[in-house]
Amino acid sequence: MVLDENSIFTMKKTLARRAAKVETWLSICLEKREIPERLKASMLYSLQAGGKRIRPVLCLVCASLCGMNEDNVLPFAGSIEMIHTYSLIHDDLPAMDDDDLRRGKPSNHKAFDEATAILAGDALLTDAFGLACTTNTDLTFLLSALKELSFAAGSSGMVGGQELDMLFTGKKNLSLDDIKVMQSMKTGALIRASCVCGALLAGAKSEIIDSISSYGSALGAAFQIADDILDITSDTVTLGKPAGSDEKSDKNTYPSIIGVKNSRQEAQEYAMIAKDALSKFTGNDAEFLISLADYVVQRAS
Ligand code: IPE
Ligand code: IPE
Ligand code: MG
Ligand code: MG
Ligand code: MG
Repeated sequence: MVLDENSIFTMKKTLARRAAKVETWLSICLEKREIPERLKASMLYSLQAGGKRIRPVLCLVCASLCGMNEDNVLPFAGSIEMIHTYSLIHDDLPAMDDDDLRRGKPSNHKAFDEATAILAGDALLTDAFGLACTTNTDLTFLLSALKELSFAAGSSGMVGGQELDMLFTGKKNLSLDDIKVMQSMKTGALIRASCVCGALLAGAKSEIIDSISSYGSALGAAFQIADDILDITSDTVTLGKPAGSDEKSDKNTYPSIIGVKNSRQEAQEYAMIAKDALSKFTGNDAEFLISLADYVVQRAS
């Protein structure tokens, strides 16, 4: 695959600009709320530790792609980042991946304690839905996006995928299809929903939503394969989370089944599928999403 360095550079600048809007929204709406001090500190600790903000930015861009002013969907996009951040806090707990570093800082349960980390995750997840309800759009559009997000984050989506991830840990003879199903749930569902919710909030027609959904699914698959590869090929400082964690925990991942080289190939194929899904769209937002698909597989962290 030939990477267009120029468009990736432009895309990264746009990603940073949109991520900054999400950061500001998260800080303003959390800091002013009345929350017990330690819980609030724990929530803000993980939310403000950085992170690429890919999911909320996908929501903003997909809304804009469908003709809506993206600032109107900031509460929804920020809520998606809260759900993602909760998933990372819980994913790092000793009962799950038992990782002590996240976003370049001690994991939430290390900086605070396990009970507070569990509660910070619970709070981020629950508050997210209330805050998402403040999104400025037609209520029918909002309701369909809330339903989409709830199912993507829940038992048939991210949480279900995390359960499969735990069940698959240490298991022999799993197939690549097992891994695909697990990854499409634990990672693909929220990434796809981030895109689809942007379109739903903008009141997009069903054929537009279908294309955006195909983009999001393929992007999510490419994203998690790249994450699995980076766990092997990168280092802890670059990743901001412990490199080698998957092998240490005997996780079943793409590279553990088909090796790094073939996994790279698969990630690139998914990026192609994502880009093809947007072939009928034109303009800056479509170009951004297309470059993001390349970035997701070539990223260093
Ligand atoms: C990490 O997601 C968890 C996965 C689904 C692989 P990100 O790589 O988006 O993490 P942040 O938000 O940038 O920290
Ligand atoms: C986690 O997958 C997916 C989530 C839903 C949080 P990983 O366990 O591979 O994510 P990292 O590598 O810890 O970020
Ligand atoms: Mg995990
Ligand atoms: Mg993990
Ligand atoms: Mg990982």
